[in-house]
Amino acid sequence: MPTPDPKHSQTFVALGVTFADQVHSLFAGLRTRFDSEAAAVTDESSWKGLRDAWLGRKSGVLTLVTDNWLKPSSPELKRVVGASLNELRAHVDAQIEARRTSIEAGAEASARVKDRVDLSLPGVHRPIGSHHLIRQVFQDIEDIFSSIGFSVVEGPEIETPYYNFEALNIPEYHPVRDDMDTFYLDLPNGAPGPLLLRTHTSPVQIHTMEKCQPPVRVIVPGKVYRRDNPDATHSFMFHQIEGLAVDSDITFCDFTGTIDYFVRQFFGEGVKARFRPSYFPFTEPSVEFDASCIFCGGTGTAKAGGACGKCKGAGWIELFGAGMVDPAVYGFVNYDPKKVSGFAFGIGIDRLAMLKYGIDDIQVFFQNDVRFLRQFP
Ligand code: DAH
Repeated sequence: MPTPDPKHSQTFVALGVTFADQVHSLFAGLRTRFDSEAAAVTDESSWKGLRDAWLGRKSGVLTLVTDNWLKPSSPELKRVVGASLNELRAHVDAQIEARRTSIEAGAEASARVKDRVDLSLPGVHRPIGSHHLIRQVFQDIEDIFSSIGFSVVEGPEIETPYYNFEALNIPEYHPVRDDMDTFYLDLPNGAPGPLLLRTHTSPVQIHTMEKCQPPVRVIVPGKVYRRDNPDATHSFMFHQIEGLAVDSDITFCDFTGTIDYFVRQFFGEGVKARFRPSYFPFTEPSVEFDASCIFCGGTGTAKAGGACGKCKGAGWIELFGAGMVDPAVYGFVNYDPKKVSGFAFGIGIDRLAMLKYGIDDIQVFFQNDVRFLRQFP
């Protein structure tokens, strides 16, 4: 059986409506129907359905009521229909707006519940990194020298031959340049040069003395470069800390006392330092400092018997080069060699770290294997 047309799709003639009472009951029926449909609206899409069904321009209930009931009705009924229709329209408008507000509020509330941060959840675990062992050793050494009045300064890794060699009393023909073969920069035609990656931190001695008058007490941590083939003790890049102290009355005793203090602070009170004659163009006299072997306690004998493998039975381990600043160097920075004296040293950080922590391959510092790095949190 076909569903009958709803009443608002038929005219009063077809419905047999002639009295005002009949009009009122028709509108009452419509209102009841609207109210039950509105009550069933729970979300945005059913709300849109309700709105279109009742307020749709072309075939919404109110449009059909206007077309089928109001427009064709007799002048006597028209007033009644008009008034009832206005009343119904006001009711429908108000209810549809009210439903919209309540649906939106409900959606917001449920979104809030969904997004609420649960503070009892365990949280995201972000592993915290740590300083690389080389950086830690830099820091230790900086702390030791800072505690006795040295400042930390830095200098460029790209140098001119003047700073890397000449001003350090290493003229062009000098044989020590052979040990310090390095990387020269490939410069564009016409650019002032040559430039090279510094082979040591010693050029910063010159920069510092050019900038400051004595007293000078600095240490210079940094990277240096040499054309060495990589093996267990060589790398084309490694780390040094340069030290420089210049004043009017610095003696050889101040020098050895300072280094002795450093060695004990760094390796432990029981470790002794000694020096042997050596040669560097920028110091005179030059020395090489050794520490009593930290592995065999300076005895030269391994715990299990036999010669200590680390110091090869000598009881001493070579640490770094140093010396009293050569007066020729003062000439390059306009210091008066008759009035000032001082000492300098150049500590290889990688070597010291390897000694202190028993690491036998310098390459592990640069391989970034976290299994190695994690051992030094
Ligand atoms: N610059 C030297 C090198 O890299 C190390 C050095 C030795 C530095 C003696 C000094 C020093 O300041 O006095 O081999």
